[in-house]
Amino acid sequence: NKDFVVTIDGPSGAGKGTLSQLLARELGATLLDSGALYRLVALSSLDKSIAVDSVDELAVCARDLDVQFSSSASGVRILLEGRDVTTAIRDERVSMQASAIAALEPVRAALLQRQRDFAGHGPLVADGRDMGTTVFPRADFKFYLTASAEARAQRRYAQLVAAGETVDMARLVADIEARDERDQSRASSPLRPAPDARIIDSTELNIEEVLQQMLLHVSVPG
Ligand code: C5P
Repeated sequence: NKDFVVTIDGPSGAGKGTLSQLLARELGATLLDSGALYRLVALSSLDKSIAVDSVDELAVCARDLDVQFSSSASGVRILLEGRDVTTAIRDERVSMQASAIAALEPVRAALLQRQRDFAGHGPLVADGRDMGTTVFPRADFKFYLTASAEARAQRRYAQLVAAGETVDMARLVADIEARDERDQSRASSPLRPAPDARIIDSTELNIEEVLQQMLLHVSVPG
């Protein structure tokens, strides 16, 4: 089972992050949060004031990314050049930059091997946009998790309000639709289900229900 891979792709806000963590725990698997890698390149490039049109510099930034994922009592901590950026990479500014640089083929190419290196050491759950199509086309199980833009905006709204932020619902829906459009229309590894992916629509399902559906299909060989 050392090469066992489960992929979970889908648009932002469909619940991939939470589900992949829960599924990884159930399966005793390592987790690859590929979005975090794009966010790290985004943060690093913002710190270094690299413009989004400096494609070569961005690719170098992606290639040389000095990152560590460390498990702690409070979950996985992400270190960029030794600095804890677990919270910083979730900033709206970083999200926008990540979405922009993720459309650049040289950046994606620079991250490809780094992502593949997560496999081969035991069961892996990989979460992202192109895990089943480009990064792990021969994965053992592929899921594509989606939900309506309204449902995804609603969940994001609840998170932001719980964090004490004031938010405009219409603006959230518009942002989500803009990100979907950008992820789906880019030339390089656009967001789409792999032909052999099982599609789960979580609009009407809670986290536990989605997890149970996934567990019906996946088991790690002994
Ligand atoms: O999933 P998350 O929102 O953290 O991803 C951040 C950004 O990285 C997304 O906007 C998406 O465009 C990009 N991404 C990607 N391919 C992946 C994972 C994320 O293009 N495999």
